[in-house]
Amino acid sequence: MAMAISLATARPGPPSPGHSLQVPVRPHAAERPRWTPVVGAFAVRLLYGRGRRLLRRAFSEKQLDQIREDFPALQQEVKPGVPLVYLDNAATSQKPRQVLEELNRFYAQDNSNVHRGMHTLSMRSTEAFEGARKKVAQFINAPDEHEIVFTRNATEAINLVARTWGAANIQSGDEILLTVMEHHSNLVPWQQLAQSTGAVLKFGRLSASRALDVDQFESLITERTKLVALCHVSNVLGCVNPIEDIAKKCHSVGAKLLVDACQSVPHMPVDVQSLGADWLVASGHKMCGPTGIGFLWGRAEILRGSPPFLGGGEMIDEVKLEGSTYNDIPHRFEAGTPAYAEAVALGKACDYLSALGMANVAEREHQLSRHLWRRVAQLPGVTIYGPSPEDQPDRASLVCFNVEGCHANDLATIVDQDRGIAMRSGHHCTQPLHTELGITASARLSAYFYNTEDEIDAAADALEAAIQLIRSGEGEPTLDPSMAALLDV
Ligand SMILES: Cc1ncc(COP(=O)(O)O)c(C=O)c1O
Repeated sequence: MAMAISLATARPGPPSPGHSLQVPVRPHAAERPRWTPVVGAFAVRLLYGRGRRLLRRAFSEKQLDQIREDFPALQQEVKPGVPLVYLDNAATSQKPRQVLEELNRFYAQDNSNVHRGMHTLSMRSTEAFEGARKKVAQFINAPDEHEIVFTRNATEAINLVARTWGAANIQSGDEILLTVMEHHSNLVPWQQLAQSTGAVLKFGRLSASRALDVDQFESLITERTKLVALCHVSNVLGCVNPIEDIAKKCHSVGAKLLVDACQSVPHMPVDVQSLGADWLVASGHKMCGPTGIGFLWGRAEILRGSPPFLGGGEMIDEVKLEGSTYNDIPHRFEAGTPAYAEAVALGKACDYLSALGMANVAEREHQLSRHLWRRVAQLPGVTIYGPSPEDQPDRASLVCFNVEGCHANDLATIVDQDRGIAMRSGHHCTQPLHTELGITASARLSAYFYNTEDEIDAAADALEAAIQLIRSGEGEPTLDPSMAALLDV
C-alpha cells in the first residue's frame, strides 16, 4: 500500500554564479580541423559559429528516429497514456535490440564454458569471448587486447588494482591523490588500501565554477605521490577532467594514474594511448551493454608485474598441492567462469556505438547538454552544480541540481508518478562531494544520445509542475515504504 512520506531534508545552497545561457558552439576536439589558419575568418565562423550548426548535425532527424527504435525499453508507457521519459542514463543506459538479440542468440546457440573444452561449442564460445575482448580493446584504442581484463563492473576493476598493484606497491607514508568528486567506487577501495598500508590520502578540491581546481590538484602531485586516481567525467558535476595533462604531471614524479572512465567511455571517443593513463576502468551497463560485465585496461607491463587478484580456475599456469604458478595476462586476473555471454554482448554494444561513431555520439550529447542546462536553469529557485556549457563546452549531458524548498527525492517521485520521468535523486554515490557542496542530496537528469529535446522539455515542464505542487502544499509525493527501504539515496 502506498503511504504518503516526505523525504525533505536537503539544504540546497544558493544559486551558482554565472548561469549564462549564451552557449558558444564549439566542435569536439577530435573534429576540429587543423587547417583553419589558412581558410580565413569567414570559414572559421562558418565552421565554429552558427553556420556550423547547419552544416554539422551529429544525426539527421530520420537517424534519430531509427536510433530510438533500436531501444525497446524506450517504447513503453510507464502507466496507461504516460510514455516513459528515461533521463537516468548516468546510472545505467538502456540496451539496443542488437545487444539484446546477441545475448539471446549466444545463449541459444553458442553457450559453453570458455577456455576449457575441445568441442565445437566451447571453441565458438571461446572465440566469441576473446573476440569481445578485441572489440573492447579497439573501442578504447588499447595497443594490445591482452591489456583488457573483464570484471563484473568498474567497481570491481578499481578494487582489483587496489588489491593487486596497490597492495604490492603502496607503503606507509606514500600518498594517494584523489578528488572530492569521486564516486564511492573510486574512494572506498583507496581508503581501505590506506588503512591497511598506512598510506596517506590527499584530495583535489573544486574550482569556483565547481569543476576540478586543476592548479590545486596538480600542486598535490609530488615525489611522495605514488598513485593518482580520478574520474574522467564527474557523474554529478558533469565536468571533464584534463587527464592528458594530469598523466604527464604524474609520470614526471614517477606516480601511476588510474582513470575512472565510467562517464566518459559511453559518451565520447576515448583513446587510452593519447590519455596517457596507466589503468582505465568502465562498466558495460552504462554503454548499452548488459549488467555484470565491465573492464579494466592496464598497461601490459604493469599488469604483468602485479600479483593475481582472486585465486581459482583459469588464472593458473600450473597447480601442485604445495603451490601454484599463474597464467599470463589477462587470464591471471579472471579467476573462475567469467561472464562470457555478457562480454560477448558488450562486444556487440561496442559495435553498435562504433557504427554510430563516438564523435557523433559526443556531438549529439553536447547539443542535448546545452538544451538540458538551459531548461533546468529556468526552473524557479534552482541551483545547478557543475560548470555550465559556457565554462566547459565538452561537459557531460547531465545536470545535478536542487530547487529551493523542494527535496530532490520529492521532485523525482512526483515527476515519475505524474509524467513518467525517470530521473535520479539522492547522493549519487558521492557523499563527500555533496558534503563539499553543503547539501545532502541533489536531483539529476542525465541524457544519452537517444534522448530528444522534447523529452528534456517534458522533464522540465514536469519539474515546474512538481515545484508548484510542493510549494502550494497541496500534494505530497507517495512512495511505497517497502520501495523506500530498498533505496540507497
Ligand atoms: C563515475 C562513476 N564511477 C564509478 C561508478 C561505478 O560503476 P559500477 O557501479 O557499474 O561499478 C559509477 C556508477 O555510477 C560512476 O558514475
